[in-house]
Amino acid sequence: MKLQGRNLIQPEDFSINEIDEILSLSQNIIDNPSKYSRVCEGNLLATLFYEPSTRTRFSFEAAMNRLGGKVIGFSEPNSSSTAKGETLEDTMETVSCYADAIVMRHPRAGSALEASRFARVPFINAGDGGNQHPTQTLTDILTIKSLKGNLENHTIGLCGDLKNGRTVHSLVKAMARYKNTKFVFISPKELEMPQYIKEVIAGHEYVETNSLDEVIEDLDVLYMTRVQRERFEDQEQYERLKDYYILTTEKMKKAKPDMLVMHPLPRVNEIDTEVDKDNRAVYFDQAKYGMYVRMALIMKLLGVDKNE
Ligand code: CP
Repeated sequence: MKLQGRNLIQPEDFSINEIDEILSLSQNIIDNPSKYSRVCEGNLLATLFYEPSTRTRFSFEAAMNRLGGKVIGFSEPNSSSTAKGETLEDTMETVSCYADAIVMRHPRAGSALEASRFARVPFINAGDGGNQHPTQTLTDILTIKSLKGNLENHTIGLCGDLKNGRTVHSLVKAMARYKNTKFVFISPKELEMPQYIKEVIAGHEYVETNSLDEVIEDLDVLYMTRVQRERFEDQEQYERLKDYYILTTEKMKKAKPDMLVMHPLPRVNEIDTEVDKDNRAVYFDQAKYGMYVRMALIMKLLGVDKNE
């Protein structure tokens, strides 16, 4: 099935072969960006951000601009008619009249699927509450494939707020489809991986622990995450848990020489900035891969990939 005209709400919406096509196009764009600088001329992307963002919004907007297309949208919903009480449904119907594709971030889990039903152009979930963040997953998969050479046989440690972190929910669902992926879930009890995600990966090997020190030497990838302050009802609990893990150069001494340290960012305190100098720390490379993979995704959904 072609990707043209499709929506992306969660990673499973695309088959492994379709994800491979996106990764392969991303690599072509990285190798030869000038070849793609006008492929989206005449197309318009809408970026509707009901929640703050730096990487996702800027990388989508940079991606569309680098493909020769144009961008409309908002980063502050109160500047739109949402402030007057307009529903998400009516906003989608309306924006579909103007744009060729819609990217939306929203604080409510499930809002992306709901909004996509009213969008009459390809719809991309840029993060819906604590639920899913599929384009971060494409970013993460491209980063792992590019830097590790393949997507199979990796032991992936996910550390921090596994309860509220949408990036880890999407990444686990996606990586579970690759051969011999092992997961190590590292979190305090209060922030452990939700049961519904563990059910998705039934049959895969996974370990749960609250000790990063005990498992770091086994990992091929360590995916650090921020404790998601905005998802806590109890701010005292947030204060107690926010610095539960801090990755330091000392802790990195036990890790494999080729372990990747990834993080979707933004970082708060969970990775000491000294770790940035370690060449295993790839989170800023990851942010750059995010732009290339979104260029490929936009091209595929708009049907402007002439190699299809
Ligand atoms: N990784 C990520 O989603 O970052 P932003 O919140 O800055 O978009």
